[in-house]
Amino acid sequence: MSTLRQGSQAVAIEQDVVLARQTARKLSIECGLRLVDQTKLITAASELARNAVIYGGGGHMDWELLEDGARRGLRLIFRDDGPGIPDVKLAMTDGWTSGGGLGLGLTGARRLVDEFSLESAPGAGTRVTICKWT
Ligand SMILES: Nc1ncnc2c1ncn2[C@@H]1O[C@H](COP(=O)(O)OP(=O)(O)OP(=O)(O)O)[C@@H](O)[C@H]1O
Ligand SMILES: [Mg+2]
Repeated sequence: MSTLRQGSQAVAIEQDVVLARQTARKLSIECGLRLVDQTKLITAASELARNAVIYGGGGHMDWELLEDGARRGLRLIFRDDGPGIPDVKLAMTDGWTSGGGLGLGLTGARRLVDEFSLESAPGAGTRVTICKWT
């Protein structure tokens, strides 16, 4: 597997969620994802970007355009140095929210992508990695 291109952008305020969406859309097209998969990845990216702004106090979206044999993939990493998630298992439960949300962002995002990983610890920030392949 090799990385064709990579980059990063800040996700600090609500407007950055829109910019992250636009980048995810552009890269999904460049990656060659079919339309339904573009939409899934962009939807997941929106949820994770919004979480980084709301709960993480802002962070970054790193992206990598990947090639693995004949397949291409788009990996997005949402990272912040916020308070972290004390109970990751609980946070990955449908309907659980610490705020006034629906508690469906993380679980929804997981279902929409091919690869999903969440690393977080109290005081150590949060990193969510998602990937979708052609
Ligand atoms: N980056 C983050 N930093 C700290 N806590 C987070 C982060 N992302 C998610 N969480 C915690 O995980 C919970 C679940 O997140 P999830 O996105 O699934 O639901 P939500 O944001 O509460 O509601 P919504 O359905 O509107 O997204 C959040 O309520 C929050 O407590
Ligand atoms: Mg959310």
